[in-house]
Amino acid sequence: MTDPSRPEASPRLPAGFELIAQDPRLGPLMLRSLERVEERLGEAVRSTDQLADVTARHLLNAGGKRIRPLLALLAAEVAGSVNEDVVEAAVVVELTHLASLYHDDVMDSAPMRRGVETAHTVWGNTVAILTGDMIFARASSMVSGLGQESLMIQARTFERLVIGQLRETAGPAEGDDPVEHYLDVIAGKTGSLIAASGQYGALLGGAPASVVDLMVVYGEKLGLAFQLADDIIDLTGHPDVSGKTRGTDLREGVDTLPVLLLRREAAGTDAQAAAAARKVLALVDGDLSEDEALARAVDAVSEHPVSAEAWRIANQWADEAIEALAPLDDSVAKSALREFAHAVVHRTG
Ligand code: FPP
Ligand code: MG
Repeated sequence: MTDPSRPEASPRLPAGFELIAQDPRLGPLMLRSLERVEERLGEAVRSTDQLADVTARHLLNAGGKRIRPLLALLAAEVAGSVNEDVVEAAVVVELTHLASLYHDDVMDSAPMRRGVETAHTVWGNTVAILTGDMIFARASSMVSGLGQESLMIQARTFERLVIGQLRETAGPAEGDDPVEHYLDVIAGKTGSLIAASGQYGALLGGAPASVVDLMVVYGEKLGLAFQLADDIIDLTGHPDVSGKTRGTDLREGVDTLPVLLLRREAAGTDAQAAAAARKVLALVDGDLSEDEALARAVDAVSEHPVSAEAWRIANQWADEAIEALAPLDDSVAKSALREFAHAVVHRTG
């Protein structure tokens, strides 16, 4: 149950955003705008239904990095200005993300999120799913005030989120390359909404079409880097920092990049490397219902070189995101977007 003594999330810049925080103009502007986003988020989830009011606040008040709203705000800065429509769009992307988490935690049987028990653990699957639906409805209602193009971005993003999640659930088809399939899944379930965040900020901030397009490319690549990091942190992270239960993906049998690299190595021609990979996979593919077995598997994967290789690939996507910014004139906002990409892959939670 939500702890009423727990303070509501207060605006702050996540670790790694020092350049933004220390800039005398951008720092206060971002903090003020994030404060406004926070206020609007609180209003957006309010409900006259007592249960919905409590369940919708549960995850919102538990915190979160608010990286999607921050990206929308920074993209607007590149475009020229943060205005009230940009703030509304920043709220829309965070609400959409929040809604998807209620659903995702049911699908992943995840016990913890943002350091609190997940909604389905407290109220059951039906309430958790319906809460996600309600929050998504609120996002849709807000986006309807932002014009036809914004509405279309939201509809297309929602479809990509859903298809990404569906493809993750279905797994790769016969003959598909599992790593390509995985990258496709994470582009849909994470890249789409992060790209939409940059797109909204630039579009509603008044940027020319070329800059809006560039922010889409940046956001999509950043989204891949973000989800890759997230999946590695599922194995290597500390629950006190990540707020989630370590090894959830392994327990649910969701193969993320480190495990896919292990499977590739296990089938490779280097006999010694293949044997070492198979040893780790024997743990991964074993019964992980006991916490000790899960901890052994998680440790084995995170200590194997595939984890370092996965980090290298995450960094590569972050670098590609930064390269997409090349046509932009130099500015503090552009440097901030560079810092943003680094922060995404240098986080621990
Ligand atoms: C987290 O993945 C999940 C997502 C990024 C999106 C999931 C999308 C849906 C459930 C469909 C969209 C639904 C609505 C209502 C918008 P993860 O499990 O890899 O990450 P985690 O470690 O944060 O759980
Ligand atoms: Mg999950």
